[in-house]
Amino acid sequence: MRSFGTNATHTGGSAIKAPRTAVLARPARDRRAPAIEVRHLAFTYPGDPPRPALDDVSLEVASGELVAVIGANGTGKSTLLKLVGGLLEARSGEVAVLGRAVREPDARVGFVFQEPRLLPWRTTLENVAFPLELAGRPRPERDGRARDLLALVGAADVGGLRPHQLSGGTRQRAAIARALALDPGILLLDEPFSALDALTRERFNVVLQSIWRSTQTTILLVTHSIPEAIFLADRVLVLAGRPGRVVTEVPIRLPRPRTLADQDATMVSEAASRIRAALGAPPDPARPAGEVM
Ligand SMILES: Nc1ncnc2c1ncn2[C@@H]1O[C@H](COP(=O)(O)OP(=O)(O)OP(=O)(O)O)[C@@H](O)[C@H]1O
Ligand SMILES: [Mg+2]
Repeated sequence: MRSFGTNATHTGGSAIKAPRTAVLARPARDRRAPAIEVRHLAFTYPGDPPRPALDDVSLEVASGELVAVIGANGTGKSTLLKLVGGLLEARSGEVAVLGRAVREPDARVGFVFQEPRLLPWRTTLENVAFPLELAGRPRPERDGRARDLLALVGAADVGGLRPHQLSGGTRQRAAIARALALDPGILLLDEPFSALDALTRERFNVVLQSIWRSTQTTILLVTHSIPEAIFLADRVLVLAGRPGRVVTEVPIRLPRPRTLADQDATMVSEAASRIRAALGAPPDPARPAGEVM
């Protein structure tokens, strides 16, 4: 579908800095090797009638790349992520992550859902530390790492609070921190910011870009927001149809780090038009190019 690694650039500083901590530092990943490979994937939910969700989807995500998937409701975006994450079993076609065929959930793959899914009886710190507890790590190590991760997502001060005491945005930060706990090579994000207000969401996009750059994690992000996809992604894949197929791939050749204010308006509006056309949405003549972000 494409050659690997050509768009994965991680250079320069960022508008909102994520603190770098020793525990998160690691050597650069090999950007030539594909982190995610999907070949001729089809999926139908069994039932009466059966519900076809995906048809002949092929894609590759290079190590260190951030790829966004956008598409109308019901085009199979969540199904695709669940198949890549091993939450659903691929029966037709192939799915591999980090060089291994996917058969079940893999500790090397972190998953963030639309709703944070934190355990209500645990503190935020204990929630973030939970995967480390399941992995049998000793208490001081997991508490220290959970604290570092909360700092990384900008929620250092809420470790002692329970989920119901947090705002929706902070809960989602904690969910991202938890997904990073086992230092996954891949992060699958299924509309992680859709419940947030527009301003909070924009700030989160900057934070996510910063986390991505500092951890060098490969990210596959499902979103309904064209501006969000363009701001974050190296490439945008457009899913359309029922069952869903990849109908267009739009490379986003904007320099990094990207800021919300400083965007090449022409490039952004061209990319937005291509994505909108592939989605089958009418163009928006009332919106000046600079307002796309
Ligand atoms: N557990 C399920 N059982 C049966 N059908 C399902 C199930 N989950 C999803 N589907 C169907 O599969 C298709 C794709 O669903 P999916 O949730 O992957 O779409 P999506 O692109 O994530 O949609 P949305 O934008 O609303 O989140 C839809 O027709 C949906 O009704
Ligand atoms: Mg979905």
